Amino acid sequence: MSHATLLLVLVILVSSVVSQQQQQQPDDTPDICLSLRDSSACPAFHQFYVSTGVVDRFPFLPSNITTVQQLDASLLRYVNSTSDYLLPLGCLSTNYNPTTPYARYALTKMCARLIQDAEDSLPCNTEHNVVPPPLCQATCMDWVNSVTVITSQPRVCSDNSQRTAALANYTTQCLSWQGYNASTDDNCISGFANEPDNCGFRDDITRACQFCQNTTSAASSNCCQLVTCGHGLGDVIMLALPFDDGWALGVNLSTGLKGAFPLVCVSPTTLSFMEQWQSRSSKLTLPSTNTIDTTITAADVSSSSIPKRMASKSSKSTSSSDFISLFWTVITHLPLS
Ligand SMILES: *[C@@H]1O[C@H](CO)[C@@H](O)[C@H](O)[C@H]1NC(C)=O
Ligand SMILES: *[C@@H]1O[C@H](CO)[C@@H](O)[C@H](O)[C@H]1NC(C)=O
Ligand SMILES: *[C@@H]1O[C@H](CO)[C@@H](O)[C@H](O)[C@H]1NC(C)=O
Ligand SMILES: *[C@@H]1O[C@H](CO)[C@@H](O)[C@H](O)[C@H]1NC(C)=O
Ligand SMILES: *[C@@H]1O[C@H](CO)[C@@H](O)[C@H](O)[C@H]1NC(C)=O
Ligand SMILES: *[C@@H]1O[C@H](CO)[C@@H](O)[C@H](O)[C@H]1NC(C)=O
Repeated sequence: MSHATLLLVLVILVSSVVSQQQQQQPDDTPDICLSLRDSSACPAFHQFYVSTGVVDRFPFLPSNITTVQQLDASLLRYVNSTSDYLLPLGCLSTNYNPTTPYARYALTKMCARLIQDAEDSLPCNTEHNVVPPPLCQATCMDWVNSVTVITSQPRVCSDNSQRTAALANYTTQCLSWQGYNASTDDNCISGFANEPDNCGFRDDITRACQFCQNTTSAASSNCCQLVTCGHGLGDVIMLALPFDDGWALGVNLSTGLKGAFPLVCVSPTTLSFMEQWQSRSSKLTLPSTNTIDTTITAADVSSSSIPKRMASKSSKSTSSSDFISLFWTVITHLPLS
């Protein structure tokens, strides 16, 4: 072996020893107990602690976290990312550009997950003489149900066996992991306590309203008192009879009620909006022209509040073969009258 080669081997050996030492460095830094007192992501958990040691088990957390603000920012990024549920379920993320729909109470569930971490966080809490209550099982199931609804479109999640297995696994965790499975009698922390706005849908008012307008789901929850829905924003209307002065007769697909409305308040809907709307709204199957009566009779015209002079100016009747172009979305305040 020449001197040059020997030197090269030595250099490689030395540099690999150095790089191993550098890789070990993070493990040598002591874990910090982060107080959640000022956490914006986990306000209901403000008396409790998360250890920075959890980063070893949660790859989405930057390994160099030292403040609760950094923790908050990482959590907020994570719940908006495809890693929270889309990738584990084997679903395509491209259908959800630029952001994935927020699964109800995802932040609250993550807060509980990190605080209940037995290896590092629970010892932090013990050290500070606090015992964090578990997440309410109902909140855990709200999250699973939300993920189930969001991913129920076959186009989005083609690998159905992976999705089914993952959802079953999530449900099992809610039922049998003691960090998630508490009842309200056990002084559990609920999603409503941590994310009171919009029933845990955060800034997605449309989904919150659809949730609260479903009397079955709304009755099971007190969160709807804090949801302000108005105006039928995001409702879908089937355009039945446009007039040439900017008004039209249509059918509110949530109720089947017919009425007159100005076309400036609606815009043509898109296929993807229709699919989202379908999965969230009370109509679980795409309404077909057979099941919804879109026939506009003279009686409908005279009973609606549409001014009489307009009724005589009907431009044309829509064709049922032009199916998607029949659907319009309410974009500004518009009660059908
Ligand atoms: C943590 O590391 C990332 C890159 O790994 C870097 O961008 C960031 O500035 C670091 N933050 C702190 C607080 O050191
Ligand atoms: C998450 O996505 C929503 C919707 O695009 C956005 O309003 C919100 O600011 C995002 N949150 C974070 C922390 O990026
Ligand atoms: C269920 O999830 C846990 C935690 O993510 C994981 O460790 C486990 O392998 C999963 N089990 C199955 C059957 O997928
Ligand atoms: C929660 O899970 C623990 C551990 O699996 C179990 O012992 C306990 O009975 C469960 N509690 C409830 C209320 O299901
Ligand atoms: C459609 O019906 C729903 C349910 O009654 C109602 O809340 C909504 O305001 C209606 N939308 C319009 C645009 O009239
Ligand atoms: C309303 O909510 C209940 C309970 O969450 C759900 O089972 C049902 O499918 C929803 N109904 C409609 C019409 O969407």
